[in-house]
Amino acid sequence: MKKDILTIKDLKKEEIEWLILRGLELKKMGRDVNYRPFVGYVLGLLFDKASTRTRVSFEVAMLRLGGDTIFMSSKDTQLSRNESIEDTARVLSRYLDCLAIRTYSQQVVEAMAKYADIPVINALTDKYHPCQVLSDIMTVKEKKGRVEGLRIAWVGDGNNVANSWINLAKKLDFELVLACPEGCDPEELKDVTPNIRVVRDPKEAVKDADVINTDVWVSMGQEEEAEKKKKLFYGYQVNRNLVNLAKPDVIVMHCLPAHRGEEITDDVMDGPNSVVFDQAENKLYLHEALLEMLLLKNERGFLWKQKR
Ligand code: CP
Ligand code: NVA
Repeated sequence: MKKDILTIKDLKKEEIEWLILRGLELKKMGRDVNYRPFVGYVLGLLFDKASTRTRVSFEVAMLRLGGDTIFMSSKDTQLSRNESIEDTARVLSRYLDCLAIRTYSQQVVEAMAKYADIPVINALTDKYHPCQVLSDIMTVKEKKGRVEGLRIAWVGDGNNVANSWINLAKKLDFELVLACPEGCDPEELKDVTPNIRVVRDPKEAVKDADVINTDVWVSMGQEEEAEKKKKLFYGYQVNRNLVNLAKPDVIVMHCLPAHRGEEITDDVMDGPNSVVFDQAENKLYLHEALLEMLLLKNERGFLWKQKR
């Protein structure tokens, strides 16, 4: 039996908690040349969109733990000449042990997972970015010592990362307050739990917050809407005045890449409350933990999938 991570919904609360703790443990462990559980395993990365952090952290996670990776830009594969997702999934399953996909449509990762017999990881779609929020919540735990009872604010677009934060808040016990302009609410608001709410005023969202999160106003694939969206987000910048309304020890997070001077100012990004580069670093350790979960063991400690 294999496990796919296409959205946060694919993980139980206990599995998320395990990933957070295991990620922190692997970070503490640092480089250990004797721990190489992925020898003989190959992770494929099939990417349709640009990436710095997700690609490199997944590749380094595999390499450090003894495995290998193959990066494929979709446009260089036969997918660009209309080979079906179904056939591509079946073929890649014969070579690879795991496949991380970054693409536009969530349906593509779902179809790939359906026809692949190896674990498929969503490395970002227009709808979700599950791996991002897993490493983000690991960073929250690292910096605050806990997740339960914290007030986490999201300021900006109701995008793929915001949707994944909502799904995370449905599983864990923290308060999530999202400030999004009208017309930019996250899709994932259906059936939200009482710890999640959307407001229009960023000041309301960040009041007494322990964590402030933001992201670009124009996500990959939305370039044509850039001018329209930038106007909508006037007033949604995470700047010093906004940060001052939160708790004094608030941490400011951004999944990056940032558009400095738009959604976040230089003084905040480079200031004492910012944890953005630790946040980026933690993607490596969370991805190591995630790959352990998918390739080595399930929640009972048994193998998800035997090495071929
Ligand atoms: N945060 C994130 O996913 O960054 P990349 O787009 O560089 O992978
Ligand atoms: N919301 C952003 C996240 C980038 C990591 C995007 O989809 O472009």
